[in-house]
Amino acid sequence: DWNMPDYVSEAVEAIRQQVGDDEVILGLSGGVDSSVAAALIHKAIGPQLTCVFVDHGLLRLDEGKQVMQTFADNMGLNIIHVDATNEFMSKLEGVSDPEAKRKIIGREFVEVFQREAGKLKNARWLAQGTIYPDVIESGGKKGKAQTIKSHHNVGGLPETLNLKLLEPLRELFKDEVRKLGVALGLPPGMVYRHPFPGPGLGVRILGEVKKEYADLLRRADAIFIEELRNFKDDQGTSWYDLTSQAFTVFLPVKSVGVMGDGRTYDYVVALRAVQTSDFMTADWAELPYALLKKVSGRIINEVRGINRVTYDVSSKPPATIEWE
Ligand code: XMP
Repeated sequence: DWNMPDYVSEAVEAIRQQVGDDEVILGLSGGVDSSVAAALIHKAIGPQLTCVFVDHGLLRLDEGKQVMQTFADNMGLNIIHVDATNEFMSKLEGVSDPEAKRKIIGREFVEVFQREAGKLKNARWLAQGTIYPDVIESGGKKGKAQTIKSHHNVGGLPETLNLKLLEPLRELFKDEVRKLGVALGLPPGMVYRHPFPGPGLGVRILGEVKKEYADLLRRADAIFIEELRNFKDDQGTSWYDLTSQAFTVFLPVKSVGVMGDGRTYDYVVALRAVQTSDFMTADWAELPYALLKKVSGRIINEVRGINRVTYDVSSKPPATIEWE
């Protein structure tokens, strides 16, 4: 049986023993695992930890701001916030193949991280939010998630930077990581968030990625997520919590619409919401029509540039959860 306060103090002590007075670097993505690892290590060694947060410009609305607020303002972590939007966008210019986009984003991510980490001359350790399922899966089957994890997490970083690896979550399952995160004071809304792919909106904008598309998609998606949190079932559980993953996909095609006396010719988005236990198979979620109606109305009225909203009714297999 798992006693949280005991676990936290043991984990903290173990980290102190392991690193001593050394300095530690951690790549913070805003995802659950790296966030919980950061909070835990910070509790153990405070200012000896520096986090590098690379914003590739493909995050959700205000996500960068939220990460800085939670970790820098509220918890007092040292964070180097790198806005690499322009760099990523220019590397992605003209590229429309999904796997090519993933490769570019992964490679660029490592490059930016390494550049920043290399400035921290005193660092001796690279901390990572590797969890138990990552440990047992690595070397085994390589799904897309695994590939990107290797891009983001290991990808030759320890070798080139000459750092030792610190992986305090190596023995934990996801649900344990979440409980630990809450115990460490992270906002439950962050710890219980749906999974978000490493390449972010880069694989939710079909084909070529453009900043204009990402900006439209971010606003549409924020509306969808807000309404999923607002709408509850009879038990009072939100549709956000009733779904395993939900997001908006940007389709770079234009459709005709009417607004007032005028004709519009604007972009289309697709809403995607699935229920699954393992993400290997997934059913499209039977969201209430009232919810879909509210979301569609709000997106079309509030996001100028999008005039049509569709709902994806494909299950996995044969469709995948993401569109790319
Ligand atoms: P698919 O689309 O393959 O998605 O049904 C299954 C799960 O994996 C996530 N996913 C990714 N995660 N990098 C990631 O970190 C990726 O390149 C990637 N592609 C898919 C997807 O969000 C879903 O949870």
